[in-house]
Amino acid sequence: MSHRLVILISGSGTNLQAIIDAVAQGDVSADIALVLSNRANVKGLERATAANIKTCTLAHQDFPDRASFDRAMIEEIDKAQPDTIVLAGFMRILSDTFVRHYAGRLINIHPSLLPLYPGLNTHQRAIDAGDQQHGCSIHFVTEELDGGPVIAQAVVPVRSNDTPETLSNRVQLQEHALYPLVLNWRCEGRVILNDQGVQLDGETLPQQGYQHPWQD
Ligand code: GAR
Repeated sequence: MSHRLVILISGSGTNLQAIIDAVAQGDVSADIALVLSNRANVKGLERATAANIKTCTLAHQDFPDRASFDRAMIEEIDKAQPDTIVLAGFMRILSDTFVRHYAGRLINIHPSLLPLYPGLNTHQRAIDAGDQQHGCSIHFVTEELDGGPVIAQAVVPVRSNDTPETLSNRVQLQEHALYPLVLNWRCEGRVILNDQGVQLDGETLPQQGYQHPWQD
């Protein structure tokens, strides 16, 4: 039976598109069972619909609190019976209840070399700090915000004339290559989380995860 993904988005969905394309090309052996957005009318929902993928919008502001919003999400997600839940630009903080419900099955992409720069404005912060390298991380989600065990990272150079936008574009190119790669490992049962940490092909990965080579 094929590995079932549920993908959570909040916006433009370029990572979602990269995953949709990789599934269509046979580079990721998965079914995308559902795309769920916490914002109506975003480009990511159009991308899913264009690919004939089931979508669902749950607007967080329609719920009285985080707990009830997360309960509603769990209900929708569980109906789709996912093996892995993929956060692809999902910009809501998740409750501990939600995270525990999907322990070991919930994966996020974050635009920094974690543990550097959890939270927002990561590109600006890397420039302000004078960093020579920046990048993205894919990690299992735990109760600690952007703090879960890292599966993989891609490093990009920071150029002296970079703005947050030019740096973000360079990082996103790497995101679009790395997320499908990692999700395919996941779908093939090659990457799991256990008490020792992240396992790839039965080996415990180092703290920074697999390091993806930089390609311009
Ligand atoms: C991505 O760059 C992702 O790393 C970031 O949001 C962007 C979504 O872009 N995620 C976070 O900041 C999570 N804290 P997309 O909607 O075009 O895929």
